[in-house]
Amino acid sequence: MRREALREAFRTATGRHAEAAAYAPGRVNLIGEHTDYNEGFVLPAAVDRGVALVGRRVHGDTFALHAVDLADHCEFSRNSLARDPQHPWADYFKGVCWALSRRGIELPVCEAAVTGDIPQGAGLSSSAAYEVATVLLLRSLGGWELSRTDVAHVAREAENGFVGVACGIMDQMASTFGERGRVLLLDCRSLAHETVAIPPGLKIVVVNSGIRHSLASSEYNRRRAECEEGVRLLAASLPRVASLRDVAPADLARLQPTLPPVVRQRCRHVVSENARVREAVAAMHSSDTARLKALMAASHESLRANYQVSCPELDILVELASPLPYCHGARLTGAGFGGSTVNLVEEGAVESFARVMLTGYRERAGREAEIHVFEPSAGASVL
Ligand code: GLA
Repeated sequence: MRREALREAFRTATGRHAEAAAYAPGRVNLIGEHTDYNEGFVLPAAVDRGVALVGRRVHGDTFALHAVDLADHCEFSRNSLARDPQHPWADYFKGVCWALSRRGIELPVCEAAVTGDIPQGAGLSSSAAYEVATVLLLRSLGGWELSRTDVAHVAREAENGFVGVACGIMDQMASTFGERGRVLLLDCRSLAHETVAIPPGLKIVVVNSGIRHSLASSEYNRRRAECEEGVRLLAASLPRVASLRDVAPADLARLQPTLPPVVRQRCRHVVSENARVREAVAAMHSSDTARLKALMAASHESLRANYQVSCPELDILVELASPLPYCHGARLTGAGFGGSTVNLVEEGAVESFARVMLTGYRERAGREAEIHVFEPSAGASVL
């Protein structure tokens, strides 16, 4: 992240020196999709792209925010935080102010500048990165304490309660707790986490389909509701079930005839996906790349057929990648309904992989894909 360039941009925009700076990365999820809001397991990595903010405290009640990449600027009072369709990019910052105020934390009114190098709308959690970086900047300027887990919580509260996206906690935790060269095994109920090394010689390659479905957020919320319905119905026979995380595969197999077909499919995905995350971790520990590939393939298939969050373009990307001998895993990553696939590719074959994917996607989907090679990276920090 171009810290000096950002400080310089701040000086140019405000004529003053920044007092604090913070950076937070985006994330890519290796496996464990649509499990976070079911209190299950996920396996994301923070990536080496993200969002940075610099700022300094000012007197009064008015925040001033500069979007360096958009050459835009807006001001807002700490006493009237509201979303602004003229400056939608500022909503994430305001959302964090809103979430902190709700916790009774005194906001350090400031002037700040934001910049980022993480692709937006590609399923790489640019918004979580922005929110996590904002919490860290304000914590630094405000001088109060906030644990790293609470940093992630505040960022999620901003997204849920202010921006209005009912996401789980995976993205914010990955952005906060990422580690260089490793993926994060996160229990989304207890928030206990540990890191796992990527098998040596493999690179994480993301292929952006360029597709964004406008129904993504309403469909996402519908999936959440269907899972809750599953919990309600299963809890009638399994009283200790508080979320799909608590449902054992054998119990689901026994009880699934009692569920309506769509709810049954959603439950099948979540319950099997949680098991796949644990298995993927075991496969990574033993560098069993064939097993990892099979698990990622099963994850994609379940997201396609059971959870129904894939789309033809993502399926094409997975179909193109799967037969390649140097590709050790390919599946959609993030919420789905467009966005990207994640692929584990042998280091020496990344260029061939990119060529095959770009050409094949152009031929079959009639569109241009975008390739990103990411290093699993350290989580958010003050700069
Ligand atoms: C989005 C949400 C996450 C998670 C994924 C699906 O990225 O922000 O919380 O639910 O979708 O795994």
